[in-house]
Parts: sequence; C-alpha cells; structure tokens
Amino acid sequence: MKYEELYKIADKAKQNAYVPFSKFQVGAALLTADGQVFTGVNVENSSYGGTICAERTAFVKAISEGARQFSAIAVASSGGEALPCGICRQFMYEFCPELDVITGKDENSLRVQPLNRLLPEGFRLEKE
Ligand code: THU
Repeated sequence: MKYEELYKIADKAKQNAYVPFSKFQVGAALLTADGQVFTGVNVENSSYGGTICAERTAFVKAISEGARQFSAIAVASSGGEALPCGICRQFMYEFCPELDVITGKDENSLRVQPLNRLLPEGFRLEKE
C-alpha cells in the first residue's frame, strides 16, 4: 500500500477521536507486514493521565487481534503534523524498531522516518 493512502486512512479515522478536553483529533493507521490496516484514535479521560494516544490505540487493536509483524504507521491530526510522543515511541519500539513512521500536515507533504531514528537506543528486554 502507498504511504499516501495509509495517511488518508489515518486522516479519516481521526473523526472518531474522543477529545473533549484538548479538541486535538489524532488518527493513526498501522500497516502490518501482511497488508492489514488497523486504525486508532486518541481517547482522552477526565483523569488526564489516562489518555491513550491514537498510535497506541492502533497497536493495541492490532496486537489483540493477533498481529505481530508491522511495517508502517501513519499519523494525522487536526492541528498539523503530529509526531508520536515519547510514550508511544517506546510502546511501538517493543514491536518494531524499524517501523516506518509517516507524518505530515497532509498527504502531499509526508515525512517517513524509521522509529529507531525517533527513538535512538530504545529499551527492550530480551525475549525468551
Ligand atoms: N496525541 C496523540 O494521540 N498522538 C500523538 O502523536 C500526539 C498526541 C494526543 C494525546 C492527547 O489526546 C492530544 O493528542 C493532545 O496531547
């Protein structure tokens, strides 16, 4: 799938964001190695720290459906280019340090960066 198309899916998904506090809608579209796409939105909470970003929503949906191999994630927001926060970078690093992270203010100005550039020397426990 073209990254422009993946970005458009993220952009459409953002309409379901639950953002009564920030009003900042974010949508994510996560592409698996076998071509499936899982979307996610940010879900805020009255206890602000309980907020879950769009990227983690997409990952949790995918992981809970059995996906384990990922190739790219596109992120779109209502407020211009949105780069994944530090918590999301670490969360995604667990599953795919080489993940392509696609961001931009629209599908004609995309930036593609590997996650391990956004989070150099990320932490991972040895898997048994
Ligand atoms: N947010 C995301 O969902 N993803 C990002 O990449 C940046 C921030 C959300 C969290 C919160 O709901 C709102 O944007 C403002 O921080």
